[in-house]
Amino acid sequence: MTEHAQLPAGGTPYRIAIVCLGNICRSPMAHVVLESALAEVGLAEAVTITSSGTAGWHTGKPMDSRAAAELSAAGHDPSRHRARQFTPAWFDHDLILAMDASNLADILALAPTAIDPGRVRLFRDFDPLAETGAEVPDPWSGGRQGFTDVLAMVERTAAHLVTLLQR
Ligand code: 4NP
Repeated sequence: MTEHAQLPAGGTPYRIAIVCLGNICRSPMAHVVLESALAEVGLAEAVTITSSGTAGWHTGKPMDSRAAAELSAAGHDPSRHRARQFTPAWFDHDLILAMDASNLADILALAPTAIDPGRVRLFRDFDPLAETGAEVPDPWSGGRQGFTDVLAMVERTAAHLVTLLQR
């Protein structure tokens, strides 16, 4: 985790966008997990989560079946997800969380010059077990274990984000 990673100030509801490359594996998993963690503590209305991919290849499609299977096995509902593409309009969110450094660079390349850098962060800046700069690795071209690893990172980071959002 980045030392003393703080949430930027935001509106009501507080709006978080989670962004990966395809929006069919990592960011949908984080989206579903964080949304259910927020609902469990009564913050479903106070904090809204969206997700998107910097690439538009899968727009409109459900999430990858391996990501969906991993979520289902952990008791989450993957069925409502449809992939969306990140556009500059998404800079209206209070906090944008990128899954890896290349997603972060692609997002910042689209940013208006006035953007507060604290509003665009790596997702794992909020992972209590991660070193500074840690990424959620892309599991798409690998095996099942990659998806299991993503779920563990996402569950742990979502729990910490919920603690910060409760304050
Ligand atoms: P994601 O994974 O960014 O976690 O959704 C990927 C999904 C699809 C591709 C790459 C990564 N792709 O090249 O189609």
